[in-house]
Amino acid sequence: MTKMMHFQIYRWDPEKNEKPYLATYPIHLNECGPMVLDALIKIKNEQDSTLTFRRSCREGICGSCAMNIDGTNSLACLKRIDTTQSSMKIYPLPHMYVVKDLVPDLSNFYAQHKSIEPWMKKKTELDHSIEMHQTKDQRAHLDGLYECILCACCSSSCPSYWWNSDKYLGPAILLQAYRWIIDSRDDFTKERLSNLEDPFKLYRCHTIMNCARTCPKHLNPGKAIAKIKKSISLFS
Ligand code: SF4
Ligand code: SF4
Ligand code: FES
Repeated sequence: MTKMMHFQIYRWDPEKNEKPYLATYPIHLNECGPMVLDALIKIKNEQDSTLTFRRSCREGICGSCAMNIDGTNSLACLKRIDTTQSSMKIYPLPHMYVVKDLVPDLSNFYAQHKSIEPWMKKKTELDHSIEMHQTKDQRAHLDGLYECILCACCSSSCPSYWWNSDKYLGPAILLQAYRWIIDSRDDFTKERLSNLEDPFKLYRCHTIMNCARTCPKHLNPGKAIAKIKKSISLFS
């Protein structure tokens, strides 16, 4: 028996003088792959080529297909179509400016990422002919951090980020900041911490933990933020 799923999808085109609306697209599930991204691609190919969304890897690595699916921020390529219901609602990531349809404007998010200088910094000239070793323990400190794909699911689910995203860095960028703070090969730990010691950049986190609940890679940005706060207290 063919099961029909009705995808209700947020549509908005800045070039048309129309308010945003929800468009409904029926899909025969036995003619579609199992993931929400499969359905979006099928809709774009067969029903409406103007439907706009980002995607690249199709396997949870690039982070570009982040969107709000049935009320939860998630990656469309990792989110299964819920066959227990007859419809699913898909919106862009919440509380972000929208470029078009399901595409959020991530300019501020990327500028914030740049602001934490997400690269290794050394105080002495590097000899590129030798490797920079870490012990197993030092390397283990990066687990739970390096896996972040910067999809912004966590930041756009954080109430503090919704209201202060111009000043508060948000869970994704703070997790990235901690990834460099805790890296034994980086020489700027103290400077990185002092750059974050600010009532808005860091201390808008109120440990609500939406970020950890929503992360499609099962990371815990709230915990990384708590570790930054603890490191600041130890250094000062
Ligand atoms: S911590 Fe998780 S939800 Fe947040 S940006 Fe990284 S991968 Fe995405
Ligand atoms: S723990 Fe902090 S960063 Fe995470 S959702 Fe809550 S306020 Fe936002
Ligand atoms: S398409 Fe790359 S994470 Fe979904």
